[in-house]
Amino acid sequence: MTDLQQPADPAPPPAQIPLAGVIGWPVAHSRSPRLHGHWLARHGLAGHYVPLPVAPEDLAQVLHTLPRAGFVGLNVTIPHKQAALALADSVTDRAALIGAANTLVFRPDGKIHADNTDGYGFVANLRQMAPGWAPEAGAAAVIGAGGAARAVVASLLECGVPELRIANRTRIRADQIRAEFGARVVVYDWAQVGNMLEGATTVVNATSLGMDGKQPLRIPFEALAPGALATDLVYTPLDTPFLREARARGCETVDGLGMLLHQAAPGFERWFGVRPQVDDELRRVVLA
Ligand code: ATR
Repeated sequence: MTDLQQPADPAPPPAQIPLAGVIGWPVAHSRSPRLHGHWLARHGLAGHYVPLPVAPEDLAQVLHTLPRAGFVGLNVTIPHKQAALALADSVTDRAALIGAANTLVFRPDGKIHADNTDGYGFVANLRQMAPGWAPEAGAAAVIGAGGAARAVVASLLECGVPELRIANRTRIRADQIRAEFGARVVVYDWAQVGNMLEGATTVVNATSLGMDGKQPLRIPFEALAPGALATDLVYTPLDTPFLREARARGCETVDGLGMLLHQAAPGFERWFGVRPQVDDELRRVVLA
């Protein structure tokens, strides 16, 4: 055997550029690629973040294949948040409690770890934009009981709100939250939603009402107390009819864009190794 015929040591694989993305159906509307792309550029990191349109029937196969193609994790959006949780090999307590995953981390062995950072994003936004906000100072009132509301409820209870009031057009979804999240949750009938605001120091619109193309949130606002903090999960438009109404009544208001920005930070840190900042520049980039 000549030297040339010696089997060469296998060359080490080239360093893999980490890939991440957002999986949804459809997903073209998602602002996450712009958001993560901005952070990658700002920190000079090698990495890519892409939108992945995947139909529900293909979700399991795609999730099990992507780790073998250089993906280190994903954000999950509608309609896959619950299915992704069920497909994960391990889940955080908060994701289990919320019943949905929005952030997946692929372990080196291909196992899928699921988290939900929506509630974290909700609270981080309020802490940043309203530093004087004191959740333990009074009751919180949550309008709506869909998937986003569940994350808000979990995070407000964790923050120490003494009472969490909730009303939803379809009452059974609010009753379900009461059953799962416990005695601090008080369900109001949708017809009583105006009464729910009385004395509340934190008020959240977690319905989709007020979003571009939808009806505004029209409820009796008379009981909304000046000085309460009002926030909306809707961020298209940024200034919703609900926030305008609350401001006119002397409430401090925080728009919903920051929740989207903050919920993205833990995933970015896990995948790319740097904790990114949420600041005005990021807001401008995502809104552009
Ligand atoms: P998300 O994950 O964004 O919370 P969702 O689970 O579809 O989405 O929840 C949407 C929320 O907006 C629900 O609380 C929904 O009330 P229902 O559970 O009764 O559907 C609320 N919502 C949507 N349209 C509404 C309307 N026209 N009037 C009152 N509530 C509405």
